[in-house]
Order: sequence, then structure tokens, then C-alpha cells
Amino acid sequence: MSADARLVVISNRVAVPKARGAAGAQGGLAGALHSALKSRKGLWFGWSGEESGSGRTGNINTQTADGVTTATIDLSERDIEEYYNGYANSTLWPLFHYRLDLAKYERETGKGYERVNERFAELVTPLLKDDDIVWVHDYHLIPLGERLKSRGCKNRIGFFLHIPWPATRLFVSLPYHERLVRTMLHYDLVGFQTKEWLDSFLHYCRTELGAEVDEESGEVTLDGRTTMARAYPIGIDWDHFSGLGQSKASWQAEQRLKDSTRGRAAMIGVDRLDYSKGLPERLDGISRFFDKYPERTRDLVFVQIAPPSREDVDSYQAIRNTLEQKAGQINGARSEVDLVPVRYVNRGYQHEELYGFFRASKIGLVTPLRDGMNLVAKEYIAAQDPEDPGVLILSRFAGAAAQLEDAVLVNPHSPDDLAHAIRTALDMPLEERKSRYEKLIGTVRDDNVQDWTENFLNDLDRVPA
Ligand code: F6P
Repeated sequence: MSADARLVVISNRVAVPKARGAAGAQGGLAGALHSALKSRKGLWFGWSGEESGSGRTGNINTQTADGVTTATIDLSERDIEEYYNGYANSTLWPLFHYRLDLAKYERETGKGYERVNERFAELVTPLLKDDDIVWVHDYHLIPLGERLKSRGCKNRIGFFLHIPWPATRLFVSLPYHERLVRTMLHYDLVGFQTKEWLDSFLHYCRTELGAEVDEESGEVTLDGRTTMARAYPIGIDWDHFSGLGQSKASWQAEQRLKDSTRGRAAMIGVDRLDYSKGLPERLDGISRFFDKYPERTRDLVFVQIAPPSREDVDSYQAIRNTLEQKAGQINGARSEVDLVPVRYVNRGYQHEELYGFFRASKIGLVTPLRDGMNLVAKEYIAAQDPEDPGVLILSRFAGAAAQLEDAVLVNPHSPDDLAHAIRTALDMPLEERKSRYEKLIGTVRDDNVQDWTENFLNDLDRVPA
């Protein structure tokens, strides 16, 4: 790649400067992409998150801050309903997270998804320069590369999937699955979070599309065109995140949580309110812990931070009700005048504050039923005091488990396993905590977001176009 080549990132969500704090507090993708663009003369194109007042709009809102130019478009009410709430979050998201029971297959939303991808291609094409490197992100925009190329775009285009790729037997339940994956094979490079998701993708290409697949190199050839598919585990922005520990806000947040727990161990979970995060199952595990070890009730305070997400999708409303009920039941059964075992907080916090909360917590509980990577697990480790580190309890079904093998790994579906892991973590001697931490921190620090970006973009530069 020429040193001057501009990086153009295209994703559904864009962290425009004024909203960046909120996006960072909510999820991995936005923060990671901002770091990737900061060091380059980058352009970031995507949806503003807003509805266009008067139906369809071609207005592009451009802002430059911190060396990053963002170009955002509004979407019509129908586009949001069919593309974002519909096909992306009611079809692909549940299916890719192995929740076939929640996946809805509607022809209309599928059409809306294709229409919005076409619209993205139409609006971003005039903004592209010949030597730009184009990097498309996530399940909302799978067909975009093919749409751009059909408009004559000759740039190298890479695609990164931030969520899991399901097993072939599940994936074939998607109507027109072949059509969707064939569009994906128009990218020059396709990246996955882990080898497991990559292997599932390659298996699908070989068995369902009849593509020629070289498992070693990741080359997939179909209809005379070759796409490279590889795994690139995403990391955190180590320099930025570890630097937050110096901020007043993080220190205050740490003290606030410590003061409020008055000597009890805090155990923390931070997740978007999403059924893939295993939150009801987590509460069942905590309830089992209290049932099995009632004498430990006074030792532990569980803090679950769960900012609402995708609230217009039915399954997200349902999970909220379930959680309120479960948290209420545990607290109803276990509270005392001076003790509430579960604090369920339905809002997001700034990254500085999360750093402080993580540092104040003896246990980090990250137990998704399925997750592409999960950066909260890495942030929890990054925020620990090396002299007195907390313990990470991590689902074996999170992509992060492949890298963070020294966490206490659990099956999030099993309340007994969770209860046992909580007890192990609570009683873990300092020496073992330190030795696990030292192994974990090496991965979190070294496999950071800068490396992830470099690895992906270097490969994109090298693949034959
Ligand atoms: O890849 C999944 C993801 O983009 C996360 O990185 C992020 O936390 C979340 O989804 C954001 O969801 P939404 O844009 O629907 O609020």
C-alpha cells in the first residue's frame, strides 16, 4: 500500500465526533475503527443513526475532527425498519449467534437490506479516489463490496465480520444463503475474529457452493475469482485504554464502587442488553451460587451494567423484561436492610468510568452464549492492578476464549458451572491470580487494535487484486 493511500472505512454505525464517547462506552467496533483511522488520513462512511425527516435523502453530512473525516447519511423510517431492525438485527444477528429460534425470515426485510446496501454503494462511490483502500465492516454490509465493484470500483476492498460465522447446518436455514455468500466472494480479503468462525465459513464455501478452498492459505476460488479468507482477532486500543487509568474520572469511579461495596467483593458485568450476552443465564448462575453457598451472600455484590440496545426489535424488549424479573427475584430472596446482592444498571458509562469500575471489581463476569470476540473481557484485564489483580470468568463461546485461555473458562449455559467458577474466583489465592493475570495481560497488550489493523491492511495490500 502506498504510504499516502487513504483508508476508507464503511460501516453501519459511525462514531461522529460529538457522539464518540457514547459509542465508545457501548461497544467495541466504533472505538476500534476510530483508532484505526486516526493514524491515517481516513474517511469513515456510514449511517448517522438518524431517521431522515422527509423519506429518502441523499444528503451526506461531513465532519472532520482528530484527523478523521466522517461522512454520514440518514435513513428513511422504512429503511431503518427493514434493513437495520429487520434483516440485520432480526435475521442475520440471531442466526449468526446460533439463535435460530429468534431468527425471522421475511422477504420484505431481505429486499430492504439489499436496497440499503445499494444506496450505500451509490452514495459512497463518488467519494472514492483511485488509490483508496476500502474496508467494509460487519453483517449489515455483506453485499456492499459486490455492489461497489458492479459500479466499476477498482479499489482493493476488504471485509471484516465482527460477529461469529455460524456452522453450515445452521446457516443453510437462511433463505437465499448462497446469494449472500456469493456476494461476499467479491471482496479481495475477508476477515473473521477467530479460526473457528473462519473454518465454518470455509466449510460452507466448499460444501454448499462447491468452491475450491485451500484451508492452509484461506484462498477461496469460485467462478474464476479468488478471495482470501483469514482470522484476525481484534484487540483493544491498549495505549488509549491503559492511559484512562490516569484520569480523575476513572479514579473517582473506582472509589465510588469500592466505597459502596463496603469490603465485599464486587463482581462486574458490562454488556449491551442483548440476548447473545447470556444475561439471564448469568443471573441463574448467580442465583445458584447463592443457593449453594448461602453463607457467602455477604461476600459478593454483583453489578451488571446493561445499556439498552436495539429497542425497536421485539426480542430485545423481551430480554429486558426477563432480566428485570430475574434480578428482582434474586434481590427479593436475598436482600437485607443493608445488603442488595444484585445491582442491575440499565445505562451506559464513559470508558474512563468503566475502567474504574473494572479496577474496583475482584471478578469480571463475561459470559456470552456466543460472541465474535468480546472486548469487555480484554478491557477488564487491562484495568487490573498488577499487584492485586481480579479474576476474569469468561465464556468458552466468546471468540476471546481462544486467546484468553488463562481466564476461568465456563459454559454459560450451566448454572452449576457458573456458580462453581464464581466460588473459585472469590477464593483464588493472590499468587494464582497474579500468574493468570501475567499471561493474560501479555496477550491483551500485544495483540492490540493497532496490530489488528496493520495485519488486515497489510494482507489486503498483498492479496492479488
Ligand atoms: O459487531 C457487533 C457490534 O457492531 C458491536 O461492535 C457493537 O457493540 C454493536 O454491534 C453495536 O450495535 P448497534 O450498532 O446495533 O447499536
